[in-house]
Amino acid sequence: FVHQLTDDRVGLDELLISPLRLSPQAALPLPPALYGPTRPNSRGVDLTVQTERAPLLQAHAECVVPTVAETALSALPEAFARAAQAGRAWRDTPVAERATVLRRAADALEADTARLCALLVKEAFKTWGDAVAEVREAVDFLRYYAGEAQRLMAPIALPVRPDGVHEGSEGQGEAGFGDARQALLGVTGERNTLRLTARGVWVCISPWNFPLAIFTGQVAAALATGNTVLAKPAEQTPAIAHEAVRLLHAAGVPEDALQLFHGPGETVGAALVAWPGVAGVVFTGSTAVAKHIQRALAAKEGPIVPLIAETGGINAMLVDSTALPEQVADAVVQSAFRSAGQRCSALRLLCVHEAIADGVIEMVAGAARELVVGDPSQLSTDLGPVIDREAFESLQRHLQRLERSARDHLPPLPAAPPAMPADLAPVLAHLQAPRLFEVASIAEVRQEIFGPVLQVVRWRGDPEAVIDQINALGYGLTLGLQTRIDGRAEALAARAHVGNVYVNRNIIGAVVGLQPFGGEGLSGTGPKAGGPFYLQRFCAEQTVTVNT
Ligand code: SER
Repeated sequence: FVHQLTDDRVGLDELLISPLRLSPQAALPLPPALYGPTRPNSRGVDLTVQTERAPLLQAHAECVVPTVAETALSALPEAFARAAQAGRAWRDTPVAERATVLRRAADALEADTARLCALLVKEAFKTWGDAVAEVREAVDFLRYYAGEAQRLMAPIALPVRPDGVHEGSEGQGEAGFGDARQALLGVTGERNTLRLTARGVWVCISPWNFPLAIFTGQVAAALATGNTVLAKPAEQTPAIAHEAVRLLHAAGVPEDALQLFHGPGETVGAALVAWPGVAGVVFTGSTAVAKHIQRALAAKEGPIVPLIAETGGINAMLVDSTALPEQVADAVVQSAFRSAGQRCSALRLLCVHEAIADGVIEMVAGAARELVVGDPSQLSTDLGPVIDREAFESLQRHLQRLERSARDHLPPLPAAPPAMPADLAPVLAHLQAPRLFEVASIAEVRQEIFGPVLQVVRWRGDPEAVIDQINALGYGLTLGLQTRIDGRAEALAARAHVGNVYVNRNIIGAVVGLQPFGGEGLSGTGPKAGGPFYLQRFCAEQTVTVNT
């Protein structure tokens, strides 16, 4: 698609469509800036905004990834004290003003799209399509949480009547609420008000795979609700976090209310979590680290500290014999291999009915072979390198195990290494082409493999039994269902213990505000990012009862 462009403007929707997009029905994983001046259509896809290709490429040519020094742990006591002090004024700032600051930051990020994308490409090896989508997701989080904070933080007079009418409303008495006077005062004859309040200083620990969007989402949620933040981005991607913080400060977030800590999770992250007085921790990363944080918080003296954790998944797609093979192949290729498989939502396990398995496997393998693996700064690249040597080596260990134990449907072809510019030479070694292995049973798939590696299993009999086996893996993040049988998708979705179910489409790219994202079980604690219950968990609740 890119080769055919003669114009220097690329429609965002074109930029984000993989050249291998096989079926027009599949929804695009395109999160537009929904909460801004742009106008999404009914599928949430903004068809009008154009991103100019030239500014992206120019920003890339000019982009130098700054070296960011590790933060000395000796800075922590003072940083925490400043964050706590700043919290007093920030939580008393009217929510509308905090929301204005976040919206201003959203505008600033949006205006800086080209530069931020270039940094995402250079620091996190994102493809351009992924980078544009990520900036837009970050912008969406800022605008969405700004609006949500305004909605949620208004005090609620109680009791709320079953029809949703609050105290002070005139009207007829309702069963159980008596007359209008009783509705006003409640059965105790007192005036009751419930409100959400800030908790204090939050520690936000974010991952390298969405180093801008998840970082910004966590921070925006904490700030919108009047909390202050000590944020530790992944050590692989400090520069993009640094840029986001610079823009947030420039938009009016007080410097002390949002401070960055750089360094490894084992030392810097651990010190932040362990610090006395931390009011809450929000973490996105591995299940093992989430449990480690949970134990560390539980072992601390003092208050019980809430943890919001969003972790990984062994995400499956169940394909029955009525599914459309082309649609399945497209959805599978997008879900398993886009972003080099480095999404927590990515497809890890394809469960395909034996009647269509051969055709689907062949189609997926054929499409995956066509993907361009190489320099992420090229518009034609589908998969850039995985994030670092550790990730690459972990993938190789999984691949060696699978090569011994499973049927290989996509063995690597001997290929000349792709041309890479000098500054990317060190990461050339971390390119991983898509792989596809057939395993005998779902129960064999015990570990999340964080890369472009898909396992496939054939099934027959009841799809309910397949869902039960997927549930038994213990994770619960995303699930794909491909079926044209009326009512089957609803029934299977209800049976599945997962946070996000996608029917007859890919399983990645949840859209803020439309597809609240997050899982259960080994996949996380909830609440769902980009959903109407997220901000509540950053708050304490206070009921005030006045004897009138
Ligand atoms: N929210 C991302 C997605 O839906 C994953 O973190 O793909």
